[in-house]
Amino acid sequence: MKRSNNGYSYDEIPYPGNAYPETHPDRLATIGVLFGMEPPAIRCCRVLDIGCGEGSNIIPMAVSLPQAELVGIDLADKPIRQAQALMDQAGLANVTVRAMDLADVAPDFGQFDYIIAHGFYSWVPASIQAKLLKVRQDHLTPNGIAFISYNTYPAAHFRRASRDAMLFHLNTTGQPSRRVQEAKSFLGLMLESIEGNDTWKAVVRDELTRISGGHLQPEPGGGRRRFERLRNSIREAD
Ligand SMILES: C[S@@+](CC[C@H](N)C(=O)[O-])C[C@H]1O[C@@H](n2cnc3c(N)ncnc32)[C@H](O)[C@@H]1O
Repeated sequence: MKRSNNGYSYDEIPYPGNAYPETHPDRLATIGVLFGMEPPAIRCCRVLDIGCGEGSNIIPMAVSLPQAELVGIDLADKPIRQAQALMDQAGLANVTVRAMDLADVAPDFGQFDYIIAHGFYSWVPASIQAKLLKVRQDHLTPNGIAFISYNTYPAAHFRRASRDAMLFHLNTTGQPSRRVQEAKSFLGLMLESIEGNDTWKAVVRDELTRISGGHLQPEPGGGRRRFERLRNSIREAD
């Protein structure tokens, strides 16, 4: 978990969540049956979504399973408050969300038929990864199914290369919003300086588009302004 001087980074920088059909108990139960399991009936199942953010996965899931009981937890307060506001507006009574650290899940936390951790394992420290696997072991009902997504090599090398380049450029401290801006700016500069149309250029462009929310807008002033910002930040660091 990353905390700046001002708080938790996921509170400061909104994470664009989504509904992920591959995590829905209906999909998980179907796959379970295909593998010869007898997964719990989904109609009145209990679901835990770990790192649920602002609820964009668990809330639509709760709407689609009105008799099920769903729980979402996330370390960040702000997205949890957003999720609560949406649930209140929608009058949903079968889902609860809590701002809490996975590390604090105690033995009496309850049992779940489906445990979901989407976009979580590869983004948390080793101690929390271990806790996630322990929660799966201790809180999953006997025929339950856990969905734990993670980034794998070799494909993850592509993303890692852009990440390493951004981390190399950034200071290790500072406001998350400023760091994000600097990181994007640096990738933008790299993109402009790669000649031709090779694979590396495509990788950097893809990553920059992704972290820019799908829109790669040319910056007013273009490369020159980026270069000046980069030069200033190098001077500041010296
Ligand atoms: C990369 S986001 C993924 C959000 C969402 N599951 C998705 O896939 O769109 C990771 C989420 O995990 C939460 N998180 C990180 N460490 C946590 C912890 N120790 N306990 C609970 N939530 C945590 C973050 O606050 C963030 O909302």
